[in-house]
Amino acid sequence: MTDITIVEVGPRDGLQNEARPISAAAKIELIDRLSACGFKRIEAASFVSPKWVPQMADGAAVMEGISRRPGTVYSALTPNLKGYEAARAAGADEVAIFGAASETFSQRNINASIAESLERFRPVAEAAKADGIPVRGYVSCIVVCPYEGAIAPDAVARVTAALFEMGCHEVSLGDTVGRGTPTSIGAMLEAVLDVAPASRLAGHYHDTNGRALESVAVSVAQGLQVFDSAIGGLGGCPYAPGAKGNLSTTKLANWCAENGHRTGLDMERLKQAENFVADLRRDLDAFPDDPA
Ligand code: HMG
Ligand code: MG
Repeated sequence: MTDITIVEVGPRDGLQNEARPISAAAKIELIDRLSACGFKRIEAASFVSPKWVPQMADGAAVMEGISRRPGTVYSALTPNLKGYEAARAAGADEVAIFGAASETFSQRNINASIAESLERFRPVAEAAKADGIPVRGYVSCIVVCPYEGAIAPDAVARVTAALFEMGCHEVSLGDTVGRGTPTSIGAMLEAVLDVAPASRLAGHYHDTNGRALESVAVSVAQGLQVFDSAIGGLGGCPYAPGAKGNLSTTKLANWCAENGHRTGLDMERLKQAENFVADLRRDLDAFPDDPA
């Protein structure tokens, strides 16, 4: 039996893709409900340009409004120093810098080449270190880029190594468009495990093709124990056309239980949080697959 940590990314990766406004109050209620499920890690907000992702513009109000469960880490995405300062002021327990293994995706998502993005992340990592705030790294497009197609495993390993070199405590490997297969995820992991131990890697697998659990299974077999998922399978990336939902948290938690892995989550409360998301979706009365 393995302990699996599920990082709940629904409030950020899930909601960022919603074209229609969602109130800060609804986001706060969602996070509070998730806290009650027993998550040790929740990605609660994003401090990015509001022109690029308007849905995440209220990160400070959301962070201020949530009831923090002792022992839970509430993290936020920070693409640059401006975002980092805002996240720190809002009391983020962890910040995340997010790069990509694809040049085109990097340009479209954060308006920088891979090399430029790493230079932009370095002062964020340094400031966080000075403040004692842990930094998570992300690598997007670990197997397929929506613009460039297949991505070489070595490109993923290079960005992963750079993020660790900067001081990230963990790197989350993003199958941004959910096109991974056991073969492609396995090949990517083989390259990445040459530069980092499994204990410091997380799997972030979108479920576009309904195969994210297969990616999880391959990763668990390689020793990974941390996976990102979103309540109700919310999500996608506004700069990744075709990227549909994240792996559903309930689906992942059930898979863990069926395969004898412990998550420590309250399944009844998880169901209630999922129902809350279903109601929210109904209220929004639209759930576009690809608003970008
Ligand atoms: P830029 O336009 O090159 O930045 O964008 P800039 O420095 O030239 O600034 C332009 C304007 O944005 C300025 O305002 C700045 O003040 C403002 P103006 O003078 O025009 O009024 N600005 C900010 N405002 C608030 N917070 C900030 C910030 N930074 C600049 N932090 C930038 C570069 C990185 C800012 C932009 O491209 C951006 O915000 N991108 C974020 C895109 C994003 O959030 N994508 C989704 C998250 S990644 C993801 O989902 C993938 C993941 O889930 C893993 C996976 O699935 O693969 C993590
Ligand atoms: Mg994502």
